[in-house]
Amino acid sequence: MKIGIDKIGFYTPHLYVDMNKLAVSRGVEPEKFTIGIGQDRMALAPITQDSVTLAANAALEILDEEDREKIDYVIFGTESGVDNSKSAAVYVHGLLGLNPYARSVEVKQACFGATAAIQMAKGHIALHPESKVLVLGSDIARYGLNTSGESTQGAGAVAMVISKDPRIMVLEEQEVCLTDDIMDFWRPVYSDKAYVDGKFSNEQYILFFQKVWKAYKEKTGLQLKDFEAICYHLPYTKMGLKALRTVLDETTENVQERLKGNYQISTQYNRNVGNIYTGSLYLSLLSLLELNEDLSPGARIGLYSYGSGAVGEFFTGVLEPDYRDHLNTEAHKQLFEGRKEVTVSEYEAIFQEVLPTDGSSVELDITEDPATICLAGIKEHSRQYVNKNR
Ligand code: HMG
Repeated sequence: MKIGIDKIGFYTPHLYVDMNKLAVSRGVEPEKFTIGIGQDRMALAPITQDSVTLAANAALEILDEEDREKIDYVIFGTESGVDNSKSAAVYVHGLLGLNPYARSVEVKQACFGATAAIQMAKGHIALHPESKVLVLGSDIARYGLNTSGESTQGAGAVAMVISKDPRIMVLEEQEVCLTDDIMDFWRPVYSDKAYVDGKFSNEQYILFFQKVWKAYKEKTGLQLKDFEAICYHLPYTKMGLKALRTVLDETTENVQERLKGNYQISTQYNRNVGNIYTGSLYLSLLSLLELNEDLSPGARIGLYSYGSGAVGEFFTGVLEPDYRDHLNTEAHKQLFEGRKEVTVSEYEAIFQEVLPTDGSSVELDITEDPATICLAGIKEHSRQYVNKNR
């Protein structure tokens, strides 16, 4: 049975910071951020967006009535969860009006969460071929003002419908995973910002890639020439390139050029959004599919997922004949074009605006937020979400 990605949606908040201006304000050369890190714009979540609303907005653009009926499993990958008990998936299930006879759960392993969700979805479809699974990857990456991680922040979500006979990409059966207990990046439960050993995390990301790629080649006999492109988890767009470069000498110049060219295309959306943790790899895939007009059906795409702590995986997908007809390229173009730039001082003020943590209630003004689904406040310890269309 063919199982894979039937639909893919994306949402990022309407605010962004220009990385050139952030660099000037931080006293570094703009090229450090735009070339050394490889980021042009950083998406910024207003207080009225959290991981739940970002995910629900991403799913809203792809679901039709049939999906709402057939989805019987919602799996939400995130490391920006809003509750230690209730899953973000249950909130999204309610906000989207999905079939009540569904299972809804949250999964966590840093940026790897959405990949774990996809693999769980594949298993579910194999057992229940008529059902559909909604997979969500949604996060807000926060390191703090004036930190070395600041240039790698971002916010956004990707939503995917996983089903049999998918219309976009079939996920192939072979994959290689790797786990190692390391402290490269983590966020203790008492902190709203991540702790990171930046250099170590870069090294581990590359090491994990080299290990899973080597094991994958041994397992399958496939080589770089068998791939049209490889998409990477992108904490910042230079990161995947560093990993790709370490294996390019395995192949011919033609294949090297193809992989490097497609890498650039697969990083365009991420370059303008920043790190969205769990959704990042799938945003890169979306960038490749929507911006490369020469990709042929049948093309095999490699996917490298990495979640600090750490778990890595290399797996693959093959494009379906009419995949292009099932993308929302124009809607995403409008989403990017409709965003509003904020100054560095406005960004700093928005960044520091946080929800109360002492149990008090708050009402938020959602009139300035163009998103359909917003967080309108907290009342008696309970988050108040609003779907403006319902
Ligand atoms: P830093 O210390 O600010 O930057 O930290 P740097 O000094 O390493 O410089 C960065 C690059 O800019 C270097 O290039 C410089 O040479 C270059 P490289 O040598 O690395 O290729 N540079 C310039 N280039 C052009 N013109 C200039 C210029 N100046 C310097 N004028 C770091 C950077 C990424 C470490 C930091 O931002 C950080 O800690 N970020 C967060 C951690 C992270 O993103 N790690 C990535 C791997 S771990 C991962 O992917 C998982 C994660 O997503 C979390 C999860 O799983 O949940 C993070």
